[in-house]
Amino acid sequence: MHLYLDTANVKEIQEGASLGLIDGVTTNPSLVAKEGRSFKEMLAEICQMVDGPISAEVVALEAEAMVKEGRDLAKIHKNIVVKVPLIPEGLRATKKLASEGIRVNVTLCFSPTQALLAAKAGAWCVSPFIGRLDDVSSDGMALIRQIVTIYKNYEFKTKVLVASVRHPQHVVEAALAGGDICTMPYPVFQQLVKHPLTDNGLKKFLADWEGLAKK
Ligand code: E4P
Repeated sequence: MHLYLDTANVKEIQEGASLGLIDGVTTNPSLVAKEGRSFKEMLAEICQMVDGPISAEVVALEAEAMVKEGRDLAKIHKNIVVKVPLIPEGLRATKKLASEGIRVNVTLCFSPTQALLAAKAGAWCVSPFIGRLDDVSSDGMALIRQIVTIYKNYEFKTKVLVASVRHPQHVVEAALAGGDICTMPYPVFQQLVKHPLTDNGLKKFLADWEGLAKK
C-alpha cells in the first residue's frame, strides 16, 4: 500500500519525506488555505520534495472551468494529479481530463455508487473519506471494502485512495481491506513507527550492553 501525506505544509512534507517512505502527497483547499501562501508556488515546492503523485484540487464547480483549472495545475509538474469533487460536473471534467492523459483524483466520495461512477469516468484514483463517515456513525472502512470488491469484479484500473484518516488503526484496516493508497496527516504517519515495547526493549538492550562494557 502506498503511503501519502495529507498536508500542504512543506515543513511536515520535508520531515516526512526524509525517511524515504512517502509515495505522494494530497492537498485540499482547506489544507492549502491554512498555509496562507501561493498555491502554485507551494505545489511546485512540494513536487521537488516528493517524487510521486501530488494531488491539487480545483475549486470551480462547472465542468468546463474545472477542466481549464485542471490543465493549468497539470502544467506545474508532471507529478500533479488533478483533484475534482464527486459531483456530476466533476465526473464530466474527469472524463475530459482523463481523455487528455491528465490523472484525476475524484474526491469527496462517500458511497459505492459514487465510486463506480468515478471509475467509469476514467479517474486515476478515487478518495473515499472514511473518517468523516465514522464521524456521522457510518462505517467508513466498510465503504473501502465495497469499493475494492467492485473495482476487482470489473477490473477497473482506478486506485482506491483511503482518505480522511484519523489514526494508525485506520491505516491497518485500509491495508487489510486492500486499499491501494492511504493518505494521512503527518502526526498519524509519525505514530506508525511507534511502539512502547520497542522503546523499552531498546533501552534495556543498551543498558545491558553498557553493563557488559564495564566488566
Ligand atoms: C483527502 O485527500 C483529503 O484531503 C483529506 O483526507 C480530508 O480529511 P479530513 O476529513 O481529515 O479533512
